[in-house]
Amino acid sequence: MSALAVESLYKVFGRGAKQAVADLKAGVPREDLSKKVTAAVIDHNFEIPSGEIFVVMGLSGSGKSTLIRMLNNLIEPTAGNIWIDGVDLGGLSPKALRELRRDKVSMVFQHFALLPHRTVVENVAFGLEIKGLSRTERLDKAREAVEMVGLGGQEDKLPVQLSGGMKQRVGLARALAADTEILLMDEAFSALDPLIRQDMQDQLLDLQRQLNKTIVFITHDLNEAMKIGDRIAICDGRIVQLGTAEDILLRPENDYVSEFTAEVDRSRVLTAEAVMEPFTGDAGGLETVTADVLVSELYEPVLSSEQPLLVVDERSDPLGVVTPKTIIKSLATEDGEGEPREESAPA
Ligand SMILES: Nc1ncnc2c1ncn2[C@@H]1O[C@H](COP(=O)(O)OP(=O)(O)OP(=O)(O)O)[C@@H](O)[C@H]1O
Ligand SMILES: [Mg+2]
Repeated sequence: MSALAVESLYKVFGRGAKQAVADLKAGVPREDLSKKVTAAVIDHNFEIPSGEIFVVMGLSGSGKSTLIRMLNNLIEPTAGNIWIDGVDLGGLSPKALRELRRDKVSMVFQHFALLPHRTVVENVAFGLEIKGLSRTERLDKAREAVEMVGLGGQEDKLPVQLSGGMKQRVGLARALAADTEILLMDEAFSALDPLIRQDMQDQLLDLQRQLNKTIVFITHDLNEAMKIGDRIAICDGRIVQLGTAEDILLRPENDYVSEFTAEVDRSRVLTAEAVMEPFTGDAGGLETVTADVLVSELYEPVLSSEQPLLVVDERSDPLGVVTPKTIIKSLATEDGEGEPREESAPA
């Protein structure tokens, strides 16, 4: 069963929102809707298996925060269904909804509003009160979470004494202390300096290996999306494309997607298997690499070898070959250079 699923999910803001959904369902293009409405989320359908990091990406105004707020029950869908752990939120009483949200979902925001007169550990413990835990239990849980995000020793500092990265870690610790299966992160790292941001990404991935949460992670940055996400949904009101980093890089659905992929370091996403060429002939004496090695790690072996590298699977069976030329081709992004795009035949 999926941890989180949505079906025919819509959020339209403004007067006449329901009518706008009916119009969209009838095929009316978004530009032709009444000027009184904003269609923020249009016909989203996806299932997120437990333990997945699902990244939502898109330009400003593409409906990312609206989506995550519906998942967190902060705003109500105009139409469609949301399931958490198989429970349809639409069928729940307000009380049951609040409880489900409290027990299953926590959220990390971009600008984490820390309480200025409370210490790190008190800030992290804040919010556990509604779970009915005693003060000692709350502080214990909070200390554990503070430790997890690498802030051990900083428990008694006040927010004013923390750097931006540390504040963001406090936000993450608070969400972890809540101990929910689902973690929603809305541009959680976007305000951080690049190096601290990379640190946070690495730390999130480390934590995820231990905790195995279901994470919905929103970002503007496709490099971040590709580093973190098991799958990536690219939004523009509608979900334009949903797939793995490799799917999106090698087979962008349209120009909206390829504009994002143009800025990605392909060598850190594509694997030997994704770029290799057919293998013919004699494998004898060729240097081998495994299929999952990143292109960025192939430069050296490919340059130091006189012959093509043999790409092999985990049973050492040959899958294909990689040469310097293969690598250069794989990194070219200009139209007509990399993978051939599928063009629809002219009518
Ligand atoms: N409460 C609201 N009332 C009216 N319109 C809204 C409301 N919230 C969002 N919108 C509109 O819905 C659209 C999607 O907004 P949303 O905040 O979901 O975008 P986003 O993808 O998160 O953008 P950003 O990357 O800038 O955070 C925008 O056009 C926005 O103006
Ligand atoms: Mg947003």
